[in-house]
Amino acid sequence: MSKPRIAVIGSSNTDLVTYVNRMPAPGETIEAPSFEMGFGGKGANQAAAAAKLGAEVVMVTALGDDLFGDNTMRNFAALGMDTSHVKRVAGTPSGVATILVDASGENCIVIVKGANGELSPADVERAGAALKTCDLILLQLEVPLETVYAAIRFGKAHGVKTVLNPAPATPALDIAYVREVDYFIPNESELAILTGMPTQTDADVEAAAKSLIAQGVQAVIVTLGGRGALLATAEGTQRIAPTPVTPLDTTGAGDAFVGAFARFHGSRASLDEALTRAARYAADSVTRKGAQGSYATEAEFETFERGLGGRR
Ligand code: RIB
Repeated sequence: MSKPRIAVIGSSNTDLVTYVNRMPAPGETIEAPSFEMGFGGKGANQAAAAAKLGAEVVMVTALGDDLFGDNTMRNFAALGMDTSHVKRVAGTPSGVATILVDASGENCIVIVKGANGELSPADVERAGAALKTCDLILLQLEVPLETVYAAIRFGKAHGVKTVLNPAPATPALDIAYVREVDYFIPNESELAILTGMPTQTDADVEAAAKSLIAQGVQAVIVTLGGRGALLATAEGTQRIAPTPVTPLDTTGAGDAFVGAFARFHGSRASLDEALTRAARYAADSVTRKGAQGSYATEAEFETFERGLGGRR
């Protein structure tokens, strides 16, 4: 399978993760068993997943001129990414995420955008020559919406496919731009916010995804955590089966799915194969702690898939 070239235009954070036995109530102080720091941010996580699986990655992001920014740059280099379009913003902190993970592996996340808020449409234009050489552009919503829109316009103008993961969801997202992306990948809570429809049951999820297709969105892929995923297009809907695992930490699992999907679909794998393998990659990631720290390399993932008896 050929190695694709993937551009990620998005956020980078340092994750400050506290593992709790249970989530605290408002006003309550609790003691927690452990704490870890790691590399995160939805954009950087998706880039890391694609890079660990062997894709060439062009990273377009913004970091502060602080220690977190320096460490993140070193991490990008260690993952073999092209960092020529990583911007450093003077006098602004790098993005930070404070994360609580409970005993069932579920999380609560608070982000401070910091330098991520400074990634601009002009940065997309400046990276233009590199973006034109890519198979896919990956986008999320931890950077300004106008930057996301500029990237979608760029992809459309230059024939580069775009993938939008609308996380964290905002009702301000303009459906006119969502119609222009090739793949739109929300999770069920993001789908609920964006459509105003319930997503409690599988039938709810299907109806909400179909409502986006009826509004002209090309392909909707809903990630459903332990329940797999759902693909909706004008041709119909298809379920992607879950891989049963015992979750330790679900942080960054959605990003693992998106990065792996880009890696496999960018290599011309069929949509079905790319989605099946992306779901397996995300499932594998929740068995380890952290976001990027939980992502398997290509060799490790092939071993995991062999253990499932899955096809390659
Ligand atoms: O999707 C998980 C990510 O969300 C974390 O790594 C955190 O940085 C926030 O951006």
